[in-house]
Amino acid sequence: MNFHILTLFPEMVSDGLNTSIIGRAKENESISIEAINIRDYTTEKHGKVDDYPYGGGAGMLMQAQPIYDAYKAITEGKNKKIRTVYVTPQGHTFNQKMAHDFAKEEDLIILCGHYEGIDERVLDEIVTDRVSIGDYVLTGGELAAMVMVDSISRLVPGVLHNDDSSMDESFENGLLEYPQYSRPAVWNDKEVPPILLSGDHKKVDEWRHNMSLLRTKKYRPDLLEAYPLTDKDRKFLEENSEL
Ligand code: ADE
Repeated sequence: MNFHILTLFPEMVSDGLNTSIIGRAKENESISIEAINIRDYTTEKHGKVDDYPYGGGAGMLMQAQPIYDAYKAITEGKNKKIRTVYVTPQGHTFNQKMAHDFAKEEDLIILCGHYEGIDERVLDEIVTDRVSIGDYVLTGGELAAMVMVDSISRLVPGVLHNDDSSMDESFENGLLEYPQYSRPAVWNDKEVPPILLSGDHKKVDEWRHNMSLLRTKKYRPDLLEAYPLTDKDRKFLEENSEL
């Protein structure tokens, strides 16, 4: 999968996506990440990319021309329309389902805004999806783009090794992930739940499922409402309502 990120701060994006699993995925070419400096495409002789908003108001707007020309440089010669995400607090809130959906694309363009926003005409021309990473305001779209690239990449085949498996993670089955423990079996006088040492995989799976239910009820009751609880799940939650 190829990510093309349109930004005024390309180093921020490239440097931030160069380590750990995403860095390894770039090296083994499961993904590529190209950070394109919008400023390189301005026709304004001093390199300016922003101007005052018509009608007045605070701050500056990113102008249409450099963004459109940078976009054209990516899409020229490609016969298919490339899905183009504008990261903005005004978009649909990003979630795991959207990450799966974007992970099916071969190419994805992500446009990062700055200042007070972007001239609406270029957004109308090129943007297919508007996505927010949450109900708070960042100084620019770069961190949002990086969040999206990270979570989409780990769903691209070849990025996670078997031992980094994504199947049990929170959100994948509609519940938060169960608690986990590693050695030593006793730490700070705290014991690992004995069932995990029993070697009984069926019991371990059942315990983990029940812990996921409890955790989701406590921290994300909204997710539990959407989850298809079985009679057994309901009974467990009722009997353990004090936990
Ligand atoms: N740009 C500024 N704030 C943002 C947010 N919450 N999500 C996506 N892009 C943004």
